[in-house]
Amino acid sequence: MACVGGPNFAALKEVCERPSLRWILQPKKLAFQSRTRMNLQSKASDEVEGSPLWEDKGLLQSEELYNYVLETSVYPREPTPLKEIRAITEIHPEFYMGTTPDSGQLIAMLLNLLNAKNTIEIGIFTGYSLLLTALTIPDDGKIIAIDPDRQSYEMGLPVIQKSGVGHKIDFKNSRALPVLDELLKDEKNKGGFDFAFVDADKTNYGNYHERLLQLVKVGGLIVYDNTLWYGTLVMPEERVVDELMRQGRSYLLELNRFLAADNRIEISQVTVGDGLTICRRLF
Ligand SMILES: C[S@@+](CC[C@H](N)C(=O)[O-])C[C@H]1O[C@@H](n2cnc3c(N)ncnc32)[C@H](O)[C@@H]1O
Repeated sequence: MACVGGPNFAALKEVCERPSLRWILQPKKLAFQSRTRMNLQSKASDEVEGSPLWEDKGLLQSEELYNYVLETSVYPREPTPLKEIRAITEIHPEFYMGTTPDSGQLIAMLLNLLNAKNTIEIGIFTGYSLLLTALTIPDDGKIIAIDPDRQSYEMGLPVIQKSGVGHKIDFKNSRALPVLDELLKDEKNKGGFDFAFVDADKTNYGNYHERLLQLVKVGGLIVYDNTLWYGTLVMPEERVVDELMRQGRSYLLELNRFLAADNRIEISQVTVGDGLTICRRLF
């Protein structure tokens, strides 16, 4: 692929703007991938195929509207290294897992509004949201980046290094809970972080929440990705036939109820990407 391993920006532009790549991060493709990979429905089911739930609209009213958002407001401002990570991710078997560029744009704005310097990221994959954060925080900022999957991280690492922001990243090749527990052993870390982004195993979001509420300062943000879980939260449970998807659905239904009732935080459920929930620590 032209954009891997070299800053051939003309080739990169061509790759990143071609329709096939644009589809990757769009609801239609995601919905299709969701159906086939996650077995949410059987193709044989006419009833489901024709259902308004599965007209490939994603979270927005139409794919045209999502295209409009991306092409008008997101892609023209997306930094080139992020386009490069997206292009590299295209060859990953689980390419659909990367944070969407419209979510990324919102996250960058939140980081800027907070003047965030010290952050935690759980769930790195090939590094789209990690690089976005590294490009946004100041030169002496730090990100504790946690993921047990080093291989995917290393796919995006050359782009991170080439961008000159690698020194801000402390990659922990581990599951997140032991790392968070280790951080909490040092009193200095409590309230020591401005921002946390969580985009990993949904079953642990509740466990991450309790720990991150101690690590992030009062007034700081914790942002959870995938809180609308491919739209399955409003589907009848029996339609979600894949066990992992069903489990995720049930954990996220519980998480959303829990966050809505948690008086330690102010929240906003945002319908970008696959749903982001922004939580601000109040005390
Ligand atoms: C949806 S991807 C993250 C996408 C990433 N934010 C991006 O922009 O490309 C989820 C990641 O969570 C990681 N993960 C799964 N279980 C985890 C755990 N217990 N702790 C930390 N990361 C985990 C997976 O290895 C995977 O790379």
